Amino acid sequence: MTRKILITSALPYANGPIHLGHMVEYIQTDIWARFQRMRGNTCYYVCADDAHGTPIMLRARAEGIEPQQLIERISIEHQRDFAGFNISFDNYYSTHSPENQAYSEAIYKKAKAKGHITQRTIRQAYDATAQMFLPDRFIKGECPRCGSPDQYGDNCEVCGATYSPTDMKNPISTVSGTKPIEKETEHYFFKLGDFEGFLKSFLASGSVQKEIANKQMEWFESDQGLSDWDVSRDAPYWGFKIPDTADKYFYVWLDAPIGYLASFKNLCEKQGIDFNEYWAKNSQAEVYHFIGKDIAYFHTLFWPALLESGDFRVPTGVNCHGFLTVNGEKMSKSRGTFIQAESYLKHLPPDALRYYFASKLSNGIDDIDLNLEDFTQRVNSDLVNKFVNLASRSAGFINKSASSQLSPQLHDEALYQEFVTAGVEIAENFEKRRYNQAMRDIMALADKANQYIDAQKPWVLAKDPATKDQAHAIYSQGVQLFRVLAAYLKPVLPNLIKEAELFLNAGELTWDSIKTPLLNHTVLVFKPLMTRIEPEKIAAMIEDNKQALPTSAPVQAAKPSHLSADPISPTIQIDDFGKLDLRVVKILKAAPVEGADKLVQLTLDLGSETRNVFAGIKSAYDPKDLEGRLTVMVANLAPRKMRFGVSEGMVLAASAATAGQSLEVNL
Ligand code: MSP
Ligand code: ZN
Repeated sequence: MTRKILITSALPYANGPIHLGHMVEYIQTDIWARFQRMRGNTCYYVCADDAHGTPIMLRARAEGIEPQQLIERISIEHQRDFAGFNISFDNYYSTHSPENQAYSEAIYKKAKAKGHITQRTIRQAYDATAQMFLPDRFIKGECPRCGSPDQYGDNCEVCGATYSPTDMKNPISTVSGTKPIEKETEHYFFKLGDFEGFLKSFLASGSVQKEIANKQMEWFESDQGLSDWDVSRDAPYWGFKIPDTADKYFYVWLDAPIGYLASFKNLCEKQGIDFNEYWAKNSQAEVYHFIGKDIAYFHTLFWPALLESGDFRVPTGVNCHGFLTVNGEKMSKSRGTFIQAESYLKHLPPDALRYYFASKLSNGIDDIDLNLEDFTQRVNSDLVNKFVNLASRSAGFINKSASSQLSPQLHDEALYQEFVTAGVEIAENFEKRRYNQAMRDIMALADKANQYIDAQKPWVLAKDPATKDQAHAIYSQGVQLFRVLAAYLKPVLPNLIKEAELFLNAGELTWDSIKTPLLNHTVLVFKPLMTRIEPEKIAAMIEDNKQALPTSAPVQAAKPSHLSADPISPTIQIDDFGKLDLRVVKILKAAPVEGADKLVQLTLDLGSETRNVFAGIKSAYDPKDLEGRLTVMVANLAPRKMRFGVSEGMVLAASAATAGQSLEVNL
């Protein structure tokens, strides 16, 4: 029986470029989609840009364009990058769509009618200059616990404290640079607690990985139970207006997952698919969400509760993956390892990364590391030396000495059968998202095929007319085995296997087609399917990526972001500028500051005097590299007492370098 499957990847924010961290998810999902289709199942894969929220509104404002223009541009960039990696979406849409508005309103209204929405007045940080309420991520100040400067309004990256922005010392709105005030506002809440029993059984149902389910269960253990979820935001906000309110908007995380329904609905309209067959309560179809572990909370608590409240079915599975690190560390701009999809694609083949991720991905939530040396070595050794080599060493003889004709019988029938039978377990590993195990099994078969040829020495047999037929049979067997492996690798390597299919000249490989070998069959001339990755390519990609200043950088209110494109501050007049006494100074000494992760203590030579300045630039510069260099300082800034000493000025420093990032303001 063929299965009916709908799968999604998380909807990327429409305010930043796609990077290789994102690609873990889209590649993981795409491999699964392609595998299901190859198996003959009906499988739709939909996605969209997540196009609402404060960061997108502010980013558009900073660029002097409408949010609509911004999200249209980013959508094109995202789709270009996804196409570059052959991500086979059936539909790529936007949460800023009529379908999404309709579903968001309908789900909200139903929740309200059922009594799951409550209203109350809250106090929230407000920027009186910009006239807007401030998400925590747009407030910076000193940590109330350790005093570290320049921390976000919800947690301290230095000591790990979590707090509310009102507890911070010297808070500043990053929107206008002024001190936020507190203001009352009426908000709408979704009563998550109403769904406690339902959510407990959802988490226990096996739809959510154990590690994740256990973590979410902890939320139930607090005395108050599950807290209400604030689903409204005040104007100005870029999103959908809440029905029957004058100036309240749906919080972006309400309409974001509803975007899954909307994108699928849009596909249904285009292709005449029955939406209800997939989403009605009694649906027999399977629905899977692929997501990163950072957004598990939204997908395993809020989202199922919203679906239940809206009388939709819940997902069959929420498949969570870990985070990508590069060379063992968190991706970093200064190290050039925040590798954009675009930079990668300029220098390297998409299939190489797809294979590498497949070889590392399991169905767990462990982080996975892209070690660039290991990547080069693995791709060269597995794909080029084992897999592609199996075809190229066999095809030479077939093309040149056998008129491209494969022999009428298998030289080793049992070996062929063994390869076919191995497909059962390989399929099971794909199905269970144990791609790493599947890749190991496939490469073990590739080794076996190559060893078979090595042992038979057909190149010797080919020289003697008496044994030339035997050589033909052996090389033909090499091609037959290559074909079986090509089928197994097809979900992972769409470009490479398309070339292999051309060479094999027998139409599209499916999981079942390989049960029958291609006897007496004419292949086409073999062309090299993939060449070795040279280390220079990696270096060029990293270099390029350092240059490729992101056109935009994600800043999201809902979660930590290491990338923040600060909004442009209010305009100043020339007189204001004239007040700055800017001096070229030489950095005599630069030393780390004990107890302050971000600070560097600088001794600056102004010609006439030296100054002591504390600068929060450690994440961008190694202090050692700064000594002897020239920079520009604001020399007439009032001295300021800090925990570590008095800072006598401010240096201007562009960390390695994001367009739109504000110069470090180091007091
Ligand atoms: N817009 C939300 C998702 C809404 S879904 C209804 C969002 N967007 S995102 O652009 O920040 O991330 C999109 C997906 O990429 C998420 O599943 C996230 O976990 C994943 N990843 C982003 N960076 C990642 C890594 N460094 N490593 C692995 N996955 C990562 O969250
Ligand atoms: Zn702290």
